[in-house]
Amino acid sequence: MQNFNTIIALQATLNEWRKKGQKIAFVPTMGGLHQGHLSLIDVAKKYADRVVVSIFVNPAQFAEGEDFGTYPRTMEEDLALLEAQGVDCVFTPSAEAIYPDGMTLDVDVGAIGQILCGQTRPHFFNGVVQVVRRLFEIVRPDVAVFGRKDYQQLHIVKHFTSGVEIVSGEIVRETDGLAMSTRNQYLSKGERKIAPQLHKILGQIERRELDVKSAAEQLQRYFKLDYLELLDANTLKKITDNTSKIAILCAVFLGPTRLIDNIIFRRENV
Ligand code: PAJ
Repeated sequence: MQNFNTIIALQATLNEWRKKGQKIAFVPTMGGLHQGHLSLIDVAKKYADRVVVSIFVNPAQFAEGEDFGTYPRTMEEDLALLEAQGVDCVFTPSAEAIYPDGMTLDVDVGAIGQILCGQTRPHFFNGVVQVVRRLFEIVRPDVAVFGRKDYQQLHIVKHFTSGVEIVSGEIVRETDGLAMSTRNQYLSKGERKIAPQLHKILGQIERRELDVKSAAEQLQRYFKLDYLELLDANTLKKITDNTSKIAILCAVFLGPTRLIDNIIFRRENV
């Protein structure tokens, strides 16, 4: 596995592959890798001959007071995991390489970036789209893979990027149902035991054992509720007669840690 931190070196290798007619799949990450990230690499392999992974903790998607400074940076372990997963090349750029003109936020995804996670993190999706566009411009992949764990991110990336096929990978969970996340490392032992309640309660909504109001009450027994919403999974707008898939989308705080999760299901089950 090759590891590049400059754009020039990375592109020289990518161009070699392109000359041979090889298809390139790309998996952007912020490192702190776990099985959720690694599952996206397996998806990527199905779509292309070569898999490129980036590790870049993007300052543009963190607000003042968020965890940019303490975000887990585990480069050595990450590289070993990627090598074992059969990744062809890793791109680990500096902030200067990504933002040569400084970090001016020149992307605005509008209203879709202000709902759900955007209510507490109003600049987040602008920062995500900015870095994803920049990374696409550098890597020029045929396909890029994103996890359904960050469902709103996946939706926004699909709508606000072009020229790259966006495919998605399922949510990978711990055996007790907790969606894997780099930020799960922040949980204390006691919090870690409580955390699976999030997925459990969303499952009860899907199975119609709980209505949204009672589910919100249940969640508040364990967490500080950020949002719980049922929306049309294709549009992230209100459910209408045309809705075929429903998204149950939720974010909670457990102590200082923010957890998100979702369940997408076909409407027949409602
Ligand atoms: P990061 O949180 O590192 O996640 C990288 C990719 O892994 C995202 O597509 C995310 O949805 C996916 N992922 C995370 N946990 C997952 C899980 N349990 N199951 C399946 N997929 C999972 O998301 C970001 O980084 C950044 O916003 C990024 C897109 C890299 C832009 O900076």
